[in-house]
Amino acid sequence: MALVNTKEMFKKAYEGGYAIGAFNVNNMEIVQGITEAAKEVNAPLILQVSAGARKYANHTYLMKLIEAAIIETGLPIAVHLDHGDTFELCKSCIDGGFTSVMIDGSHHSFEDNIALTKKVVEYAHERGVVVEGELGRLAGIEDDVNVSDADAAFTDPAQVEEFVTKTGVDSLAIAIGTSHGAYKFKPGQNPKLRFDILEKIEQRLPNFPIVLHGASSVIPEFVEMINNNGGKMPDAIGIPEDMLRKAASMAVCKINIDSDLRLAMTGSIRKYFAENPSHFDPRQYLSPARAAIKELVKNKIVNVLGCNGKA
Ligand code: G3H
Ligand code: 13P
Ligand code: ZN
Repeated sequence: MALVNTKEMFKKAYEGGYAIGAFNVNNMEIVQGITEAAKEVNAPLILQVSAGARKYANHTYLMKLIEAAIIETGLPIAVHLDHGDTFELCKSCIDGGFTSVMIDGSHHSFEDNIALTKKVVEYAHERGVVVEGELGRLAGIEDDVNVSDADAAFTDPAQVEEFVTKTGVDSLAIAIGTSHGAYKFKPGQNPKLRFDILEKIEQRLPNFPIVLHGASSVIPEFVEMINNNGGKMPDAIGIPEDMLRKAASMAVCKINIDSDLRLAMTGSIRKYFAENPSHFDPRQYLSPARAAIKELVKNKIVNVLGCNGKA
């Protein structure tokens, strides 16, 4: 099995009423934890790389880690650029072997978003690479961009057909109330997603794969593990799993998860050091961190995404 793009994955996911997990990767232990989990439950995977991950770990290292994971697991894996913000960044990832890129033009005007996205699509499609566009704006933090709640905007269903037709994108990320990071809802607030908007988009774009960003559930077990072992996180509330299951049964074919991986990894490392304050061999504290990621991803695949057995 080689690297694949997401065309076939999304077609099957749409028809089967499940979603593919798109997990952010930044180092070897994260790649291993995710891919070992997917192998155990025979799930297709999207491994996504942000500009920050590429800066941290280097494009070639990440590509080679993902290639190693394909050799070890034999799974269909797509490698995707998360939140590409310029044509040049998308081009560099396409030229460097990514099979899928996101061009996030959501901070531009509708017209400029279309023009930028179309340019990326033309370059990508000539090379067999698929493109995710975005309409609407999520709150939260990606790399150095911090979008406040006031600047966030739900996707307007009236714009989706024009955007998809004019750009030729293969999938569309939408804003229906999810947000990036660990603080998605305020304490006391009831988590709510605008499924009415998703339904309208689904009606206007039949058989078209929709992407949900900012979809970590912020699992309390890991937040507590951080706070019980010297950490100090404020109340963190994520997207309830039943809402993600509902989205996956609808047109949502790709669900993005990063914060949950970070919390699992950091929680287990903090716990390890609280219990073993004199240890200093990185293999000792990275092994439980990798195992925590594996367990988390297996649970996501089987209990939330429903893509187990679909590789
Ligand atoms: O949506 C953002 C992802 O969680 C990636 O985060 O840009 O800090 O790598 P990052
Ligand atoms: P979370 O912060 O909810 O994990 O979202 C990740 C994401 O959308 C990556 O693009
Ligand atoms: Zn995102």
